[in-house]
Amino acid sequence: MRAKLIVGNWKMNGSRAANEALLKGIVAGLDNARAVCAVCVPTPFLQQCEDVLTGTPVAWGAQDVSMHAFGAYTGEVCAKMLTEFGCRYVIVGHSERRAYHREDSALVAKKAQAVLAEGMTPIVCVGETLEQREAGETAQVVGAQLDAVLEALDAASVGRIVVAYEPVWAIGSGRNATPAMAQEVHAQLRAQLKARNAEAAEVVPILYGGSMKPENAKELLAQPDIDGGLIGGAALKAEDFLAIIHAA
Ligand code: PGA
Repeated sequence: MRAKLIVGNWKMNGSRAANEALLKGIVAGLDNARAVCAVCVPTPFLQQCEDVLTGTPVAWGAQDVSMHAFGAYTGEVCAKMLTEFGCRYVIVGHSERRAYHREDSALVAKKAQAVLAEGMTPIVCVGETLEQREAGETAQVVGAQLDAVLEALDAASVGRIVVAYEPVWAIGSGRNATPAMAQEVHAQLRAQLKARNAEAAEVVPILYGGSMKPENAKELLAQPDIDGGLIGGAALKAEDFLAIIHAA
């Protein structure tokens, strides 16, 4: 049985003052939540996460990383630096980075390798656009996105990643995939993981992301291959994020 994993993706939101209240609110409301939970925050707030969350059950991480280890890459942040702030997770290949920063699957694979090399867990995002779904290309698109990463990893490392299925049309739109639609894609992703490493496929959490909120979380999380959520908008309010954590 895989423990459910609920990860907040703050995107480019937050301020030192607001974060303090949000993080403390999450910790205070956890009670005996069964789910494992984490927040992935903008890089300047990692120190604050380390200060507030050390010793609590809430882990933290980053939203992107450089594929390079060190050097003359102005503006980039490498995986080793993220470890110095206690990061456990790093999101790689989010659709906003694929769309606005032209990241392709080959680059995403290199970023996943960089994260693993520093002992952290990459949250590898895959997902189709509305046009691709309407053209019947969902399976092929997400399949190719995941394959690019799986091919770059040795079989043992496959068990150290998290996968997040985030249909692009569901992100920030208020329009979530139905539980059945999401389960269908998750089952495909699970089969792909199995083909690479059958044992690892049993332990890799596959998260759903895209307008997950308190009202739809329970039904989505009840699907056999949905092991948690990557939460954007609803992760910015302690009450909503906690409701999702407690639904898991
Ligand atoms: P959303 O974002 O929950 O606001 O739709 C999810 C994500 O992009 O990770």
